[in-house]
Amino acid sequence: MSSKPRKILVTSALPYANGSIHIGHLVEYIQTDIWVRFQKMAGHDCYYVCADDTHGTPIMLRAQQEGITPEALIERVHGEHLGDFTDFHIAFNNYYSTNSDENRELSQGIYRELKTNGLIDIRTIEQLYDPQKKMFLPDRFIKGSCPNCKAEDQYGDSCEVCGATYGPTDLIAPYSAVSGAKPVLKESEHHFFKLGECEEFLKQWLLESGDQAPLQAEATNKISEWFESGLKDWDISRDAPYFGFEIPDAPGKYFYVWLDAPIGYMASFKNLCKQKGLDFDAYWKPESDAEIYHFIGKDILYFHALFWPATLKFSGYRTPNKICVHGFLTVNGQKMSKSRGTFIMARTYLNHLKPEYLRYYFAAKLSDRIEDIDLNLEDFVARVNSNLVGKYINIASRSAGFIKKRYDNKLSATLDSAGHTMLQTIQAKQAEIAILYEGRQFSEAMREIMALADIANEYVDETKPWVLAKEEGQDENLHQICTSIVNAFRLLTIYLKPVLPQLAQQVEEFLNIKPLVWADNGHLVLDHEIKPYKHMITRIEAKQIESMMAESTENLKKTEHSPTRHGQAQQNKEDVMEHISYEDFAKVDLRIARIVKADHVEGADKLLQLTLDIGEQNTRNVFAGIKSAYAPEELQDKLTVMVANLAPRKMRFGISEGMVLAAGPGGKELWILEPHEGAQPGMKVK
Ligand code: MSP
Ligand code: ZN
Repeated sequence: MSSKPRKILVTSALPYANGSIHIGHLVEYIQTDIWVRFQKMAGHDCYYVCADDTHGTPIMLRAQQEGITPEALIERVHGEHLGDFTDFHIAFNNYYSTNSDENRELSQGIYRELKTNGLIDIRTIEQLYDPQKKMFLPDRFIKGSCPNCKAEDQYGDSCEVCGATYGPTDLIAPYSAVSGAKPVLKESEHHFFKLGECEEFLKQWLLESGDQAPLQAEATNKISEWFESGLKDWDISRDAPYFGFEIPDAPGKYFYVWLDAPIGYMASFKNLCKQKGLDFDAYWKPESDAEIYHFIGKDILYFHALFWPATLKFSGYRTPNKICVHGFLTVNGQKMSKSRGTFIMARTYLNHLKPEYLRYYFAAKLSDRIEDIDLNLEDFVARVNSNLVGKYINIASRSAGFIKKRYDNKLSATLDSAGHTMLQTIQAKQAEIAILYEGRQFSEAMREIMALADIANEYVDETKPWVLAKEEGQDENLHQICTSIVNAFRLLTIYLKPVLPQLAQQVEEFLNIKPLVWADNGHLVLDHEIKPYKHMITRIEAKQIESMMAESTENLKKTEHSPTRHGQAQQNKEDVMEHISYEDFAKVDLRIARIVKADHVEGADKLLQLTLDIGEQNTRNVFAGIKSAYAPEELQDKLTVMVANLAPRKMRFGISEGMVLAAGPGGKELWILEPHEGAQPGMKVK
């Protein structure tokens, strides 16, 4: 490793604040986290920042739907996202929000610079407008029949049935997905970033070669295609109502979310600089000697490889060193699917499985390529069990018992030559493994490390400590052998620590040593007291996978957004109506109840106190908010439907033992059943 620490700033794409983190996202955050942890272990000054991407129409509408402010929504989601990441051992130096003062100032400043440099154009365009909701509609919020195959209810950008792409004005019988109204064309002034004028610069930047190339070859090829079809100017403004930052000197105009989102990388770092006393300009100004790395998925390449460097370059900042693009996650060879139970939320996974398993599995699959990666659940179980548990963790348990029982938890001061040779073989791979981590060839790194674990296990198999333990006069020999095995385990732990940080911490406690860093590979631990071995991680059982998938299927109703296609913020189709499962519904015990008595409640405006007869001499006391519709005496002997198995609730006026159902528009018109021959108190309602 070079002696002078590198200054490195690393980002992952900012997840949208209108959905939960799922295991597809985790490919990226785990990949980035491993890389960052490696850099830190290697002694570099490396900072990892991220944030929630909070602006745009879907978030605004989502908040409206929930009846809360966008600010309240994004605050709640921020907590959820950060909780998920933390529990997957993803360690940001700062996890911020794009809805911050830093981001507003930076975004407005960058816009002003671009304008001064003649790169902003204002033009009038025509766009579909929802006359009822009084807002312009993004393509994804216009639906209608596909102009190609006539399939109904397709989005305004493409058809999910035949795959055709088109503009929203091509739809047959278009309607607003927000209000259902028929959209009308309306004119408005928009601000454009003249990307076409940045072509020369972008070509030169992208086509830099060798080590300096900012993109993988596959990504560069993709971009060359975009150059061929010509760079179009970029529409960076949206009209009110919009949740975002206002454009300076343009009342009622807001920055399109994708303008301020990448600037959110800078804003999160700026906020970190304030906390840590770091020099922001030393990272972001053209003369900076720091390195900047963005990790992203292939769907948002256009934004990061064209708009973003052009924005930076022409507003007085520096461009990133590398944009590391990864592919999409498939599960069992297919796109994640809700109905198959493979659209697995981070939290659902954590309810059943340990984060280490997924971190290890992704590491074993990830490379520096853009190809998709597959989580095959059978392979997942097999590989984690045989490699992580079978090959690696077991090494410790195969010797630790003897060290405790026979040597008072102390490691020997010397080693035998076979043990020494085995350890040297492991140590010798350090540089090679470092290069693999640096180059994001994690699957290769895992292969190398597991090959070393094989060597350690062969050593155990050959020396057979459990046989020696029964023989006379083998005391010193056995001590040295067990010490070599523990040292092999320690060396492998150093190599795996970027992937398994928390497990490594357990190992550090067991070995009674300081936090391991990359350079610790250079020495061994001898003549040292360790702690008694405790079990650290167990095998995955098939039933854990089954219950995770069952929970995912149950979660169909939950809210998130599906993998994006153009990186556009998009609304989740399931958001429109929240469902409960049949099982949930079946839990509700609905009974016919006769109102035996109804009374006013002292001090309550809306409540009546009801005594309900649900048969078999069973009466219930219920407080019901139906005073506006009924005088107590009108209710005597009427029938109602009650939820009989609702948990009793303590209210200000007493305990309520259920809930009555009434129908109607509310206010004075709230209907309760008239007594009816067929209905008897206690009957189950089906
Ligand atoms: N908000 C934008 C990014 C703005 S960055 C200035 C966005 N958000 S996202 O939540 O849709 O995605 C966040 C990251 O997760 C993206 O890099 C995206 O490619 C990645 N992934 C989302 N779904 C994924 C899979 N199914 N598989 C792998 N990565 C995926 O885009
Ligand atoms: Zn179609």
